[in-house]
Amino acid sequence: MKRVAQYALAGLLLVSSTPVRIPSPQENPDGAAAALPYPEHYRETMTLYAVVDRPDGMVRKLYVSQSALKAVQSKQPYPTSGDALYVIENYRAQSANQKYLLDAQRHMVPKDIPETIHVMQRRANKAGAMDNWNVQSFFYNTGEIEGRANLFECWACHVSAEKREFVFSRPVLQRFLASGQVQRWDCPKINRQLCDQHLDPP
Ligand code: HEC
Repeated sequence: MKRVAQYALAGLLLVSSTPVRIPSPQENPDGAAAALPYPEHYRETMTLYAVVDRPDGMVRKLYVSQSALKAVQSKQPYPTSGDALYVIENYRAQSANQKYLLDAQRHMVPKDIPETIHVMQRRANKAGAMDNWNVQSFFYNTGEIEGRANLFECWACHVSAEKREFVFSRPVLQRFLASGQVQRWDCPKINRQLCDQHLDPP
């Protein structure tokens, strides 16, 4: 119910004539969290563009919203109305006898549902700020917020993708756009350390 109310509010704000100023978590944690509710139905409304396997048994699926995709495609700035979103699903891989199960293409097989999803939402620019995205982590099965503390960790890490507007996987999204193929990406490093695929082509 709460989420429905938040959506209705966001809808009203979007049709009003004054541009919406979405607060950052640093300015106003509650306002920022309210502007970034659980992205209901994202699997239907957003585009899957990459799946990343990591040797520590994590599989991650990456989705982009239509407005963010259009912005990258047309090399325009992301819209700041609240609907430029990225979602990454964090799955554990299935295993048996202490080995990860592999499919016919030798990719890891994710469990049925992700444990959490991480979301980024482009917000309006604030001069001098590096936090022009709202971030949030949700439990997939309940839609509850995972906890505020890790939001600072998100930035501590995503700041190294500043040149790509804080989106690590932008080169991968560009390859998806060029090929029309969901990018399946085996990163040889654990956690979320960077691999070659994160880097812009020379
Ligand atoms: C230690 C570094 C690190 C931390 C901490 C981290 N991320 Fe990421 N994130 C990455 C990397 C690297 C990728 C690219 C996908 C991959 O390689 O797994 C990524 C991908 C994403 C994406 C998809 C868009 C993109 O940038 O490619 C979103 C959304 C995202 N992270 C949100 C979050 C949120 C929200 C948090 C905190 C709750 C968080 N991340 C914490 C490194 C990190």
